[in-house]
Amino acid sequence: MQGFGRFEPDARGRLCYLPAVPSFPRLDEVWSPLERAMTEVGAFDRALAAFPVPDVAGKLFARLDAVHSSGAEGATTTFTDLLEYQSARNRAKDPEDAREVAATAEAFDELSERGDSVTYGAAACLIHRRLFERAKDPMVAATAGKLKLYPNGTYDPEAPGATFFYTAPASTAQALADWEAFTAEADARPEWVRQALSHWWFEHIHPVPDGNGRVGRLLVPLALRRKGALRHACAFLGEAVHMNKTLYVDALKDARRTGEFSAWTRVFCSMAAQSAAANLERLQKLGQVHARWQAATKAVRAHSVIHRLLPWIITKPAFTVRDALAQAGGAVTFQAMNTAIKRLIDLGIVTRGDDGGRDRLFSASEVIRLFEPTDDA
Ligand SMILES: Nc1ncnc2c1ncn2[C@@H]1O[C@H](COP(=O)(O)OP(=O)(O)O)[C@@H](O)[C@H]1O
Ligand SMILES: [Mg+2]
Repeated sequence: MQGFGRFEPDARGRLCYLPAVPSFPRLDEVWSPLERAMTEVGAFDRALAAFPVPDVAGKLFARLDAVHSSGAEGATTTFTDLLEYQSARNRAKDPEDAREVAATAEAFDELSERGDSVTYGAAACLIHRRLFERAKDPMVAATAGKLKLYPNGTYDPEAPGATFFYTAPASTAQALADWEAFTAEADARPEWVRQALSHWWFEHIHPVPDGNGRVGRLLVPLALRRKGALRHACAFLGEAVHMNKTLYVDALKDARRTGEFSAWTRVFCSMAAQSAAANLERLQKLGQVHARWQAATKAVRAHSVIHRLLPWIITKPAFTVRDALAQAGGAVTFQAMNTAIKRLIDLGIVTRGDDGGRDRLFSASEVIRLFEPTDDA
């Protein structure tokens, strides 16, 4: 079969893949999933803009995406675990695993805030740095934020030596520069298709030693927002990839073998649409929770701490008193905060965790439940 791109030997004769510029598929071949992605993600994007609490995209949905995108690569930290890890308790059953998931979410926040000032290649390295800079293994920590120094590969029975090697380290910087130019370019062709091809390209360069899947998937929502295809960085892939990793990897591989990008583009668009449809449903239910809370606290006096606490709890549904005090920025005493939280418990909005002490966890389980898998999904 005529492959796409070419193989070049590294210093030790290992054949490493050098992708060619992926070609845009014909529009009629990808139209239906492309239209679905634009519709479903567009609807989620608009619903985020209209949502009464700001920042839910980054604070909740990017966190969920980090859980799924990492879960697709073997992480076991759940959304609930992540919330507890990111609270002042900073605890998790697997702290190293939770740290990587948290780092993915934090890199997303950081890049969202920095907007257009970071190039795509620098953004990839920044995410990689955040992912691995605090790794326990000093050898791994030393690679954080840097391009790979050694060839990385994956099992492939068709390849010589049964290993498919991604781009050779010596060619990676140039390959990444070409990829960046392609990703940043804009023309009359659909941006969604461009970013589907860009993601394929990034994964085939595999520029960093590890984390290429998580880094590459995080770049997709950021790029689509930066390119103006969406108002929010909300085109997440993690959940759909987590649910069907084989489909995703097979489609990536197949485009390389055939040089034909319509099937990959269709899979990419379908996965974005699937994640967005699930997220829109969550957001709608979150809106109902918020409305119920507002109704339940209608009688509470207007300047009570509670009214400022509620929107914060929507985006931080597991917290300690210390977290709540920190967000109030010193404007509320420990005593007043305790009283407010107690009132929320009485109203059935918040529940108190079992283990006592100053860092006891309070949870809004109505919110958390929306972000955990259910049996009736
Ligand atoms: N055969 C393949 N060809 C191209 N890309 C692949 C292949 N297999 C896996 N991938 C990509 O590589 C990612 C895994 O790379 P890795 O560096 O381990 O990242 P992570 O640590 O985030 O999993 C997958 O999520 C996928 O995007
Ligand atoms: Mg990995």
